[in-house]
Amino acid sequence: MSDPEEVELEARLEEQESFDPPAAFAEQANVDDASIYDEFEAAWPDCWEAAAGMLDWDEAYDTVLDDSTPPFYEWFTGGSLNASANCLDRHLDERGDEVAVEWVGEPVDEDNRSFTYGELHREVNETAAALRDLGVGEDDVVTMYMPMVPELPVAMLACARIGAPHSVVFAGFSADALATRMNAADSEYLVTCDGYYRRGDPLDHLSKAHDGLANVDHGTETVVVDRLRDGDGFGHGSGDDEHDYDDLVAAHEGATVEPVSRDAEDMLFLMYTSGTTGEPKGVKHTTGGYLSWVSWTSRAVLDVTPEDTYFCSADIGWITGHSYIVYGPLSLGTTTMMYEGTPDHPDNDRLWQIVEDYEATQLYTAPTAIRAFMKWGTEYPERHDLSSLRLLGTVGEPINPRAWKWYYKHIGDEACPVVDTWWQTETGGMMVTTLPGVKTMKPGSAGPPLPGVDATVVDTNGDEVEAGRAGYLTVGRPWPGMLRTLYRNDERFVDEYWAEFSDTDSDDPADWVYSPEDGAKVDEDGYITVLGRVDDVLNVSGHRLGTMEIESAIVGVEGVAEAAVVGGDHEVKGEAVYAYAITEDDQAESEELRERVVEAVEAAIGPIARPERVVFTPDLPKTRSGKIMRRLLENIADGDALGDTSTLRNPEVVDDIQARASD
Ligand code: WTA
Repeated sequence: MSDPEEVELEARLEEQESFDPPAAFAEQANVDDASIYDEFEAAWPDCWEAAAGMLDWDEAYDTVLDDSTPPFYEWFTGGSLNASANCLDRHLDERGDEVAVEWVGEPVDEDNRSFTYGELHREVNETAAALRDLGVGEDDVVTMYMPMVPELPVAMLACARIGAPHSVVFAGFSADALATRMNAADSEYLVTCDGYYRRGDPLDHLSKAHDGLANVDHGTETVVVDRLRDGDGFGHGSGDDEHDYDDLVAAHEGATVEPVSRDAEDMLFLMYTSGTTGEPKGVKHTTGGYLSWVSWTSRAVLDVTPEDTYFCSADIGWITGHSYIVYGPLSLGTTTMMYEGTPDHPDNDRLWQIVEDYEATQLYTAPTAIRAFMKWGTEYPERHDLSSLRLLGTVGEPINPRAWKWYYKHIGDEACPVVDTWWQTETGGMMVTTLPGVKTMKPGSAGPPLPGVDATVVDTNGDEVEAGRAGYLTVGRPWPGMLRTLYRNDERFVDEYWAEFSDTDSDDPADWVYSPEDGAKVDEDGYITVLGRVDDVLNVSGHRLGTMEIESAIVGVEGVAEAAVVGGDHEVKGEAVYAYAITEDDQAESEELRERVVEAVEAAIGPIARPERVVFTPDLPKTRSGKIMRRLLENIADGDALGDTSTLRNPEVVDDIQARASD
C-alpha cells in the first residue's frame, strides 16, 4: 500500500459513489437497451412471454397469468414442458460435445471431472431409469442429502426427467434436520453419498445420513454415491434398502427415458427454508414459471451465453445453487462450474486458481466470502491471471460498500460490472439488481427492481416511504418465479407472506402484496438498499437460520430453563449466533453445560448454527406483556448503547447480562 499510485486509487474509489457499466462489457451485454424497463411495464404481464419463450414447450400455454384466486397465482397455464429436456436434450445437436458441468474436487488436480452435454444427458437418463426401477413415480418426493458432487445435479435432473420433485437438504445440516425434512415431505427416497473432502480430510457423511434415516417414520430406499472411491473406511451399508449408485447406473447402461411432460404449474422441487417458527417451510416451485425465471435472469443479469465458463461458488444445497448453478445456466447451454471444497484449501487462493485454470467468465459469490478474501489480502488474487472474468455477482446478504469496491477492483480489475442481487428462496430467482450492461451501479445498494418487477418500500400501513427513509420491502405484482405455496400448508403460506400488507378477503390481485420480511430503503433514483431481516431469522454467512429452531434446541438441554437467540455483528459472517440461556435453579452455569448447549445446536441444525457465544443469565429482559426484548440482547451482543429500557418489566437484569456478556 505504500505505492503512491495505489494509495491514490484507493482514495478515489473510496469517494466514488456510483459506477457506470464498463464500456467493453456494455457493448457485448445480453441486455443492452434500457428501454426494456418501459417496455416491460407497458406490456405486463405479457412481458414475461420473453422468459417463457426462452424454453422449449411440449404444449404451448394459453394463459400467461391466471390471477383469479390471489395469492394462488398460476403462470403459463395450459402449457407443458420438461425441465431436464430443457437443460439437456435441446442442446445435444449443437452442443453435445461442449462441457456442461466442470467439476473441481477439493484435492488439488486429483479427481476433477468434466461432463459434456452428451455425457450428462446419458448419465441423467441412466439415473432416471434406475430411480424409476426403484419405484420412484411421478410426484414422489426424492430427497438428496449431498455435498458438491456431480451426482447431485445428475440426480436432480433425473428426477425432473421423470416428474419426481426433489428436495435437496444441505449436506452441512444435521441428521435431525434431514429426518425432519424427509418426514415433512413424506419422502420415501434418499440419494446421498459416503463422504467428501473438507480442508484436506475425508469426511464421513453416510453415518450422518444413517442417523437421520433412523428417525424417518416410514420406509425408504437409499442410493449411495461412492465419492471417496473407498479405501477411506466409510463403507456402504448392506441393507436391502440401500443401493450403490454406480451399480444402479451400470445396470441401466445406455437406457433412455422419455422426459415426462409436466404441466407448467406442476411442482419441480421443494426447498425447505427457515422461518419464524421452529418448523422449516417447504417452499414449492413449479416447472414453467421457475424455469422461465431462472433462465431469463441468468441471461439478463449474469449475462450468461453458451460460450461462457460460468462459476457460482454457492452450494447446490441452497436455492442459489439450484437456480444459478443448475437450472439457469444449463437451460442456457453454457458450461457451469462446481467446486467441492472451501476457498482456503490448500491455500487462500484456491478460487483464483480455479478461475485462472478454467478461464471462468463470471463469478457469483456471497458477501461473506468477499469479506474473507479482503481479510486474507490482495496477495492471493494477485498471484493469478483473472482477466477471463467479465462479470461479478453477489447474493445472500447486504454487501457493505468497502467490500463491494474491493471486489470490483481486486477481482474485477475495474473492468467487470458487479451485480448485487437481492432475492430469496421464495422468489425463485433475482428480483432487485442492476442490469449490468445498462444501469449505473451504486455500491451497497442492490439497485432498482428488475424490469416487470414491482418492488417498493413501505411503512407499517403499506404506504410508500419517502426516499431515504427505512421501511419494509414489498412486492406488489406476482412474478413467474414466485413460490406457489408452502408444501401442504396453504394457510401458513398466506399468513407468512401475504397477510401483513394484503386485504386477505379480496379477490382483486391489486389488494395483495407479498412481504419478504426484509427491511429496506430507497433513494431518489429508485435504488433499493436492503437492510436485513425484520423477522426472527438470522443471516449467518448468507445462510438463513430461524432463531426459534436454535432456541428450541437449547431449551431441550437438561438444566436449561429458557433461551433467547439473537444475531450479533460479525466481521466475516455478517451475523453470528448469540445465545442467552437461563439455567434451572439447581444447575451450575458450567463450561460443561455451555458445551452441551453448543452440541445440541449442532445436532439439531448443523455446525453452521454453532453459537459464537453462550451467555448464562438469571433472567431475560422482558416487556410488561412478557415478550423478550431481542433488540436489547442484540445491542448487548454488539457492545452498543442500550437506549430506553424503561418499558421493561425487569430493567434490573440488563446490567447483569451486560457484565456477563463482556466477561
Ligand atoms: C437476504 C438467498 C441484501 C435477505 C438467495 C433475504 C440479501 C434472504 C441479498 C434470503 C442482497 C439475499 N442484499 N440482503 N443482495 N440477497 N439477501 O432464502 O434478507 O437463503 O430475505 O435466499 O437473504 O435468503 P435465502
